[in-house]
Amino acid sequence: MIEIRQEQNEQDLPGIRQVNREAFPDTGGAKVFYEIRQTGAGVVSLVAVDDDNLVGHVLFCPAAIASQGGEVRGMGLGELAVLPEFQRQGVGTMLTNTGLDMLRGRSCSFVIVVGHSSYYPRFGFRPGSQLELACQWESIPDESFMALILDRDAMGGVTGVARFVGIP
Ligand SMILES: CC(C)(COP(=O)(O)OP(=O)(O)OC[C@H]1O[C@@H](n2cnc3c(N)ncnc32)[C@H](O)[C@@H]1OP(=O)(O)O)[C@@H](O)C(=O)NCCC(=O)NCCS
Repeated sequence: MIEIRQEQNEQDLPGIRQVNREAFPDTGGAKVFYEIRQTGAGVVSLVAVDDDNLVGHVLFCPAAIASQGGEVRGMGLGELAVLPEFQRQGVGTMLTNTGLDMLRGRSCSFVIVVGHSSYYPRFGFRPGSQLELACQWESIPDESFMALILDRDAMGGVTGVARFVGIP
């Protein structure tokens, strides 16, 4: 049975790397987020475990929007990866929903993601352009940058560029 739990840093890192290498065979994983996670500040990192084998991983990193009323803090879904032989069995959904539930309890105003436009809407993500939010990277296609508003009051009237903190 698949269990979702928080990453235990040293012990889980080799398994996380392996999952990312296999899920993203062309690039070997989202390297930039390996770097940001080393700072450790405010990340939420969850693993999916099947019988002690690590089969999936999700990482959320701090994100921010500089708006007229000041900076609004949220999170960015930085990487989501499931071993190929465990894909399409609900593991990615479990990881994402567990992470979002944790963030809902942490005064997180929004979550952004750059990813498959056919996957993330099921969690409530909408294209950033519909929310007047823009991606920090101009090369990202409009439909691939999405946001989920968790705190409507904090996000009222907030528009602009949403950034992963510390990632240029
Ligand atoms: C994308 C990914 C994380 C989804 O995890 P998963 O455990 O396979 O997904 P789930 O079983 O929870 O959900 C299955 C649904 O996801 C959809 N899905 C799976 N991979 C997808 C992809 N690459 N693009 C769009 N949808 C995808 C399936 O079609 C299925 O849809 P349905 O419920 O309408 O039938 C996983 O397939 C993966 O690691 N892929 C390779 C790496 C990657 O692309 N990561 C995401 C970067 S944005």
